[in-house]
Amino acid sequence: MKINDNTVLITGGSSGIGLAIAQALLNLNNRVIICGRNQQKLAQASQAYPQLHTFLCDVTKPDQVSEMFTAIKSQFGNLNLLVNNAGIIKFYDFLHDEDAVISGEEEIATNLVGTLRVTKAALPLLLNSPESAIVNLSSIVALVPSATTAIYSATKAAVHSFSCSLRQQLQPNNIKVFEVMPPFVDTEAIKQINTDKVSPAEVAEALIKGLRTNNYEIRLGPAKALYFVHRLSPTKAEGILKQLVAKALKSQMMPIRNS
Ligand SMILES: NC(=O)c1ccc[n+]([C@@H]2O[C@H](COP(=O)([O-])OP(=O)(O)OC[C@H]3O[C@@H](n4cnc5c(N)ncnc54)[C@H](OP(=O)(O)O)[C@@H]3O)[C@@H](O)[C@H]2O)c1
Repeated sequence: MKINDNTVLITGGSSGIGLAIAQALLNLNNRVIICGRNQQKLAQASQAYPQLHTFLCDVTKPDQVSEMFTAIKSQFGNLNLLVNNAGIIKFYDFLHDEDAVISGEEEIATNLVGTLRVTKAALPLLLNSPESAIVNLSSIVALVPSATTAIYSATKAAVHSFSCSLRQQLQPNNIKVFEVMPPFVDTEAIKQINTDKVSPAEVAEALIKGLRTNNYEIRLGPAKALYFVHRLSPTKAEGILKQLVAKALKSQMMPIRNS
């Protein structure tokens, strides 16, 4: 996939990994559009990178997604790279937390249904470009689930599966489907996890390299090692992640029972 002269939409591009990807793609002379729910965060991103185009859009809201694509079509005329990055993560104990299902529904609506909705809305524009791609942000927990993020892990497993299916389905249409499986990344989303983390810029760098070399499943840092352990022994990989998360949360106030 070419890494210059694309028109890119990054959902959740106002902070964390999404903003780092936006910055990297801007540096490579791409036209970059980001969206998010919080106008203030979008304005801050715009101030830091004035070339960014921003849309206030919640991926869980069908009307807002539809309005954003109408505006993209009329303002830009094309879109050939979609990065489904918007995501939320919630830490809870499924057994004891009364709100576990409500929290889970929010995660499913954003991480999974949001990804499906934006992808479906983007397809007509992607099909219209000679070279197009979709990038889905999953996580290594798609393969190695964690007890403290039960529904989040399930949403990422679904995003992984969807990415594999979509890759097959869109291959005849010349739309490439990439998936990024990061390890722990130093962003607001997991600030309560006290462990070694890669930087958002490292994730962006791995994505650019993956796009350039057509590496459809992009893993980096500890996610690479955990992936290989998982291939040999899924139970062992789960054990490693469980220990890591338990250690990382030990000093925190969060009530993690049954760990
Ligand atoms: N951090 C990690 O360790 C890690 C590891 C593996 C995978 N990931 C994945 O990487 C992606 C980015 O995560 P991050 O760590 O960069 O998190 P982050 O810093 O919290 O950023 C999340 C972004 O998504 C936006 N967002 C959230 N819900 C949205 C919605 N309904 N509609 C539109 N935008 C929405 C947020 O902006 P608003 O709040 O303004 O909407 C924000 O810009 C997520 O899919 C996450 O699951 C993260």
